[in-house]
Amino acid sequence: MQLNAPLDMHLHLRDGEMLENIAKTSAHTFSGAIIMPNLVPPVTTKEAVVAYKDRIIKAIGDEKFTPYMTLFFNPSYDKTFLSSVRDEITAIKLYPAGITTNSEGGVSGFDVEELRPALEAMSELNIPLCVHGETNGFVMDREAEFASIYERLATAFPKLTIIMEHITTKTSVDLLDRFENLYATITIHHLLITLDDVAGGMLKPHLFCKPIAKRPEDRDALLKVALEAHPKVMFGSDSAPHPQHAKESCGCAAGVFTAPIALQLLAELFDTHGSSVEKLQAFVSGNAQTIYGVTPLNKTITLEKKPFKVPSNYKGVVPIYADEEIAYSITNVSI
Ligand code: NCD
Ligand code: ZN
Repeated sequence: MQLNAPLDMHLHLRDGEMLENIAKTSAHTFSGAIIMPNLVPPVTTKEAVVAYKDRIIKAIGDEKFTPYMTLFFNPSYDKTFLSSVRDEITAIKLYPAGITTNSEGGVSGFDVEELRPALEAMSELNIPLCVHGETNGFVMDREAEFASIYERLATAFPKLTIIMEHITTKTSVDLLDRFENLYATITIHHLLITLDDVAGGMLKPHLFCKPIAKRPEDRDALLKVALEAHPKVMFGSDSAPHPQHAKESCGCAAGVFTAPIALQLLAELFDTHGSSVEKLQAFVSGNAQTIYGVTPLNKTITLEKKPFKVPSNYKGVVPIYADEEIAYSITNVSI
């Protein structure tokens, strides 16, 4: 099977040595990705976006790949600032304060009036808002509890494109058809695993992430919209590398590293469920092009049903399914 111009609409590339070590695992097989801004400190200025993009370009070497840059949302952003940074970014990412890795500077409370100046300016400038939609409630209920905040934002800012990032629940899936301006990214791991895989037997730190994987019925709801390539959903890996010692420790960091095998796993998943290459193409590129209005670089990935042994680590980062065999391999990448 062949995929054209795959896009990863939610990716953590990190910085420094980690960026240099892992950037090519995405840049080799994807045409582009939305790059998350949760660095330390977070990316909040035009200078920081431009400098981070330069470091990414340097880290990917001669791979052909577009980093679609984002800013870390702050309610103080005004129209003058946003206009000045518009050409450097593709979206802005909003984190609730302290909800996940490096999100301490995020939003507390979701007072529409407090958010109005920034979100109206984004709406006018046509800058999509990507949201990590979790409250600080009970861990299994955080995303479902956030649904009322999505409803409030979608209603108050009807022209703002709002992307519900890495959705994990049926509740979020149901919102897609209720609000015209709500869209979603879905990861490969949330299509494959439930909480049972993380903690039902021996604890699996490499499957631990935010939002935590949920129930089988939630996964089924995600699978349905992904496999039919519902036009409001798109692939976003949320591949989030952490050093092995930060995962295999007392106090495991949240994040699953999937970038190097995401396309192989998607090919296997769509094949196993009898969905078509056309649907996978839409899920992994076409829908995102329409939603974001981006035109990615040409890149053709050939995948074959041929076992691939997943490496035990990529420069010190342990991937999902390390040392296991998966059914599809990438046999060619052409530009
Ligand atoms: C992400 C990370 O490590 O930056 N972790 C995760 O569990 N997904 C942050 C995020 O997207 O929540
Ligand atoms: Zn993320």
